[in-house]
Amino acid sequence: MKSFHVSRRSFLKRCSVIAAASGLPFWFVERQLAAAEAPAKKSPSPNERPGVALIGCGGQGTRDAQSAANWGEVVAVCDVDAKHAAAAAKTLTVDGKVPRIYSDFRRVLEQKDVHVLVNGTPDHWHTLVNLGAANARKDVYSEKPLTLTIDEGRWLVAAVRKSGIVLQTGTQQRSSQRFRLACELVRNERIGKLREANVWLPAGMMGGPFAKAEVPAELNWDFWQGQTPFVDYVPERCHKTFRFWYDYSGGTMTDWGAHHNDIAYWAIGLLAPREVSSQVLVPPLPGGYNTFSEYEVHYTYANGVKLNIHTTTHETFSGSKLVVDGQRNGIRFDGTEGWIWVNRDQIKASDPDLLKAPLPENAVRLYSSSNHMENFFDCVSSRKAPICDVETGHRSATMCHLGAISMRTGHSLSWDANAEQFVGEHAAAGNAHVRREQRAPYNYSFVS
Ligand SMILES: NC(=O)c1ccc[n+]([C@@H]2O[C@H](COP(=O)([O-])OP(=O)(O)OC[C@H]3O[C@@H](n4cnc5c(N)ncnc54)[C@H](O)[C@@H]3O)[C@@H](O)[C@H]2O)c1
Repeated sequence: MKSFHVSRRSFLKRCSVIAAASGLPFWFVERQLAAAEAPAKKSPSPNERPGVALIGCGGQGTRDAQSAANWGEVVAVCDVDAKHAAAAAKTLTVDGKVPRIYSDFRRVLEQKDVHVLVNGTPDHWHTLVNLGAANARKDVYSEKPLTLTIDEGRWLVAAVRKSGIVLQTGTQQRSSQRFRLACELVRNERIGKLREANVWLPAGMMGGPFAKAEVPAELNWDFWQGQTPFVDYVPERCHKTFRFWYDYSGGTMTDWGAHHNDIAYWAIGLLAPREVSSQVLVPPLPGGYNTFSEYEVHYTYANGVKLNIHTTTHETFSGSKLVVDGQRNGIRFDGTEGWIWVNRDQIKASDPDLLKAPLPENAVRLYSSSNHMENFFDCVSSRKAPICDVETGHRSATMCHLGAISMRTGHSLSWDANAEQFVGEHAAAGNAHVRREQRAPYNYSFVS
């Protein structure tokens, strides 16, 4: 009995320390830790650790693979830039075991010792790599946004379901306690009826015109471009800054939007908005990055809830680095009885008491994960759905694509989430962006 009291006391102390450090309410931390104190999982023996291959060895892919190395063994790396592949192989060498290097991911898919892929390619390559993974029956942790087009998402959902692979979308904010708390409080009407959500995304990079250059010897520029229209090599189109070109991505609307819009989507809890409209605030520079830097996007849901996306110039991309100065990106939920603000650093409410009172036992609870990569590997072993499965990743990306399509067409548009088509006025203009022409041979048949 005495030891029970001692361990209970030390447990409560641990909760207090974590609550103070994280800014999360005590009741939430206590509940979370109690759930985590389930019987310890047997750690896999070296022979049970899945073989991991990294496809796309840039900054994020390499970080993801380093994280994956906690649960698996990185046996291969693949990149169309030989320097990036070599650097990742070096970084991911453990105990003298150097991962094998590949330049065509289809060869990686043939390897019997590769069970799991980490897909860190740019957005325009996510789907073909993921479809290849499904065809080869290999589980995949794929970076966000899951797709380049809505059509890709439909193909991917069908392929993942048919193959039974586990696919985790790399929207790791879903595995953050702070964001889940905000979404659970909203879903349980802690701020009354939700009226609107407001998301602030960093403004995108402006720049240009850019000059073409010699293709670096280590880079297969044709393969890097893949399905997108072939153009002369321009360094600013390639590594890191690809996200500011519509050929390869969707600007901050799909880049940071894949994180923050996704949290709004989680809290609102409906499949998709019905209406989308937008205003572009600053036009791109001729011959430069062509995704919009500053903009507003407005969504309306069937239940009348509004979602507004804003950009903040207080936080902009400089090179590939996010420069923070003053007003932060984040999400504010406005209800009839108060608001909640959340971002990667803090959670705040119009009245601090809104956070303090525990949710009742019968409250709506959301999928709980406290480590995105661990959740993926747990599901690889249990065959359960991960927190950001393929449908979630597809629908979340769709929401971002809808905003980008409204901006690119300059129209207010109506969306039918079941048919996954625009309907009503300007539907044809919107539907022209639901899929894109894929340059041969880099179309869906490339991986079949
Ligand atoms: N989850 C997050 O917080 C987070 C953060 C940063 C980036 N990302 C995402 O990660 C992805 C990569 O971003 P990054 O900043 O690391 O970009 P990056 O340009 O640094 O890296 C991409 C790498 O993929 C390689 N590549 C391109 N096509 C390939 C192909 N067909 N096969 C193999 N390799 C290929 C490139 O040569 C490059 O090395 C993007 O989709 C981005 O949205 C996610």
